Amino acid sequence: MTTDHLPTTYAPHEMNAAYQQFLQTYPTYARTHILDDLRRTDYKRLDEQGQIYFDYTGGGLHGESQLDKHFAMLRSKVLGNPHSANPTSLAMTDLVEGARHFVLDYFNAGDNYIAVFTANASGALKHVGESYPFQPGGHYLLTFDNHNSVNGIREFVRSRGASFTYVPLTMPDLRLDRAQLEALLDDINLAYPHLFAFPAQSNFSGVKHPLDYVDLARGKGWDVLLDVAAFVPTNRLDLSAVQPDFVTLSFYKMFGFPTGIGALLIHKRAFGKLHRPWFAGGTVNFASVQGHGHYLAPNEAAFEDGTIDYLNIPAVKIGLEHIQSIGIDVIGERVRCLTGWLLDNLYRLRHGNGRPLTRIYGPINTDMRGGTIALNLYGPDEKLLDYRRIEELANHANISLRTGCFCNPGAGEIAEGLTAEDMLYGLQNGADITLPRFVQIIQHRDNKSAGAIRVSVGLATNFADVYRLLQFIAGFIDQTNLNIGEVTFDIEGCRTIRDGS
Ligand SMILES: Cc1ncc(COP(=O)(O)O)c(C=O)c1O
Repeated sequence: MTTDHLPTTYAPHEMNAAYQQFLQTYPTYARTHILDDLRRTDYKRLDEQGQIYFDYTGGGLHGESQLDKHFAMLRSKVLGNPHSANPTSLAMTDLVEGARHFVLDYFNAGDNYIAVFTANASGALKHVGESYPFQPGGHYLLTFDNHNSVNGIREFVRSRGASFTYVPLTMPDLRLDRAQLEALLDDINLAYPHLFAFPAQSNFSGVKHPLDYVDLARGKGWDVLLDVAAFVPTNRLDLSAVQPDFVTLSFYKMFGFPTGIGALLIHKRAFGKLHRPWFAGGTVNFASVQGHGHYLAPNEAAFEDGTIDYLNIPAVKIGLEHIQSIGIDVIGERVRCLTGWLLDNLYRLRHGNGRPLTRIYGPINTDMRGGTIALNLYGPDEKLLDYRRIEELANHANISLRTGCFCNPGAGEIAEGLTAEDMLYGLQNGADITLPRFVQIIQHRDNKSAGAIRVSVGLATNFADVYRLLQFIAGFIDQTNLNIGEVTFDIEGCRTIRDGS
């Protein structure tokens, strides 16, 4: 392993010794060397710029070769809007439909699913919320551990007079309790439409929720929405083995480029259940102004409003081919090894007085968990070290972390021991409440934390990255005063965090 890009504060021989030990503990890492080769080529900009990237759950990184292939395609072809039937339009239609079929093949969907291109996973989730036939007597069951774009569906539920229930998480692993889930699944009136939604992998804790919950819920008569946005960047999703009714994802999380394209995969048996509340250009087979009527297209086109992002859609196929050329299992194994090493070492960090530096939310080993780690740091006096200050210091070290609640408030509330009363207290502050403001309130009121640091490992991460991150975090051992360095932290003046993915 090369160490020439290491800042002088890292002793290369110490890192190499740690690397050798890591290889002994995680021998399968050696089988993922193709990703070290790609790090030197496709992802060389990371080391050229000294960037240490730990926000793969926020967004994946593209390889340079993906861009080369995509731009070669754009340079060499004359392509028109696929809504016409002229030669340039037909050429574009071929590329879009080729990408669509590739997506279905990649997930082994066979003939069972249709693929709708959306703007992102949130766009796919909104389609489901908007078109699922929620009605009085109907129900939406969802896990505490969900992205806000899944939580947001409850507003469609509310506005249509249906009801919703959250499935709690168990502490400290932030998993679902199977018996409790079964009881909730059994506790409904089957006469009305009912939808169960959960993420295949948590974007907060990295927990992988068992995919057999899909069959469990379907067996009890539920329609199932599986959000795979945080799962598919490092795991194989085989839709011949697991067949949710609706599957949602964003492609940039898998391979970085292009942004602005996601997918809603709809099982054909569920397609007829969705009722779009409007029509738009591109979605209809026939529409009349004087006749006041329209017929929606009987396929994916019904959900693709207006002109799709047609010049970028072929890059989805290029991205998936890129992942295939590496092997999703190779990516998954590398992420498992690096995450395991980080968890082992983060967990062991202790202050001089023996108290732990880190509090990790969720599982502390790699069983049924992915490469996303949520944590907070505590001082030797057991007081929370402010994660926003830690983020500022990480920024100075060119380390890209994520802080906040990662748009998954439910998992955060459980992990951080925030009660319904705490959250209502925050909400009662009115529409001016923001996460930084709530942090201030809840710290003063209860010495509780709201929000955390999130570290996520992905396909271009290498051992040098996790080593440097550990060194950075170990730098907080015996720190109580975070106003070190040039940056001072001012809670009122801190930039407003628009809490996102
Ligand atoms: C599990 C999960 N679902 C949904 C989303 C929403 O994705 P997007 O912001 O691309 O719409 C995210 C984003 O981080 C996510 O992690």
